[in-house]
Amino acid sequence: MATGLRKGLTSYGDPGFSLFLRKAFIKAKGYSDDALDRPIIGVTDTYSDFNPCHGNVPALIEAVKRGVMLAGGLPMEFPTISIHESFSAPTSMYLRNLMSLDTEEMIRAQPMDSVVLIGGCDKTLPAQVMAAASADLPAIVLPTGPMVVGHHRGEVLGACTDCRRLWAQHRAGALSESEIETVSGRLAPSVGTCMVMGTASTMACVVEALGLSLPGASTIPATHAERIRCAEATGRRAVALAKSGPRPSELVTPAALRNALTVLQAIGGSTNGIVHLAAIAGRLGIRLDLDAFDALSREVPVLIDLKPSGDHYMEHFHHAGGLPRLMREIADLLDLDARSVIGTLHDHVARAEEVPGQTVIRSRDYPVNPQGAMCVLRGNLAPQGAIIKQSAASPKLMTHEGRAVVFDSIEDMTARMDDPALDVHADDVLVLRNAGPKGAPGMPEAGYLPIPKKLAQAGIKDMVRISDARMSGTAFGTIVLHVTPEAAVGGPLALVATGDRIRLDVGARSLELMVEDAELARRRRAWTPPAPHAGSERGYARLFRETVLQADEGCDFDFMRKTTR
Ligand code: FES
Repeated sequence: MATGLRKGLTSYGDPGFSLFLRKAFIKAKGYSDDALDRPIIGVTDTYSDFNPCHGNVPALIEAVKRGVMLAGGLPMEFPTISIHESFSAPTSMYLRNLMSLDTEEMIRAQPMDSVVLIGGCDKTLPAQVMAAASADLPAIVLPTGPMVVGHHRGEVLGACTDCRRLWAQHRAGALSESEIETVSGRLAPSVGTCMVMGTASTMACVVEALGLSLPGASTIPATHAERIRCAEATGRRAVALAKSGPRPSELVTPAALRNALTVLQAIGGSTNGIVHLAAIAGRLGIRLDLDAFDALSREVPVLIDLKPSGDHYMEHFHHAGGLPRLMREIADLLDLDARSVIGTLHDHVARAEEVPGQTVIRSRDYPVNPQGAMCVLRGNLAPQGAIIKQSAASPKLMTHEGRAVVFDSIEDMTARMDDPALDVHADDVLVLRNAGPKGAPGMPEAGYLPIPKKLAQAGIKDMVRISDARMSGTAFGTIVLHVTPEAAVGGPLALVATGDRIRLDVGARSLELMVEDAELARRRRAWTPPAPHAGSERGYARLFRETVLQADEGCDFDFMRKTTR
């Protein structure tokens, strides 16, 4: 099999000429024949002025390249698109599959023997791992790492759990315009990813649990020298992978996915993690079993005391021993024979450090939550499932029956939620629909419906909220998400009317719309699908509308999943 510069020659009808031409062009950058004969290690460059979470990427690339060269390889960095949560309209999820397509095809098109994937902000690591799984070239992930914490008036702050908490205080009138402005300069005090257990931290941990990154790579703060050393070691390792693998398809197996789901529960991870894992699994022809994931929620406790489920931040998790230490704590629940970029997960756990007196990684007999972070609900309102992050929900609302107050779209919610005339009470159930993969489009993080202003001002902090949208991993509340199928494709959520009764019973894993079947059938006959969004008659918007899958299949494009296994 061709390696290095000889891989994937451009087609001119004469392979010898193709190689000659390739060498002639690359020598324009001053490479020697000796350099060009080395194993080539691709290094993705996801630096962007629009992506402060990747602000340390230039330094990481420099260190990766040093590691590659120390191990005798030739590093070649190449750009791919970059996605930041707050700079992606309509939503970063809408662009995840585009980044994945870009990354996969660039890995495939350019000659490289292995690839270092540098990402971090929420959708970037999922997009890169989906791409690597499809390209199936030996790959190793280097997260950009979490930000360090911020401080305000003696309080420790973190993006973005505290962004939401303090914004809610501002909405309720408890925080002035000038103070919220001051806070905005302190919530994200350094480059790197959000430092709570949001989606970025979750995915970095999940990727490490899948064996795709070095031990500890998920938690080292973005600004620490240790992250630079991790980058150098990642580059070195990538050279070894180029010679003998393993490939992503040998790492992301059903056993490895179960390990990742177990870790997802134990870290109090983001609900987005389940969507991304479903997409990654789908790239290898594996269907993620939501019922098995729910069963784990009864077996695996939350052990990481991080916001939003707990009190601390990623740098504290790191100083407490990071993911290897957590995996040691739950070793009996994991398949440590699963392979990794350094051998097996046994090798990761063997590196776990015992930190005397640390309180961030709890022991099994003193969990943050005796059950896992999230569970799967089913019922006539969510035949293909819905997710609730029980570790971030209000215990008193875990069993609740209330009157539905329905918003037909995000625009409708924005227009009416704070209307003083809105007929809404603290016991009601807020319902948002047409905010799913096709409906919004891109399944935005709108599932964290704000508490109506008049109720927030009266001191109401949580209500049962239900939607076909997603929620930021940094959010908290009794929030039912990913209702599948979504309303826009005719899921039962489309049939709910304001005034209906809805019953949530998290213990029984049920979500029921308490309306007679005959009445639901009548409403279904009267239902018409929403009109396609403006602009979706062509281009990427059309591709997205026509091919995006539901949440239980990871919101990937239908043609990107591997069909056999
Ligand atoms: Fe990039 Fe939170 S906005 S990780």
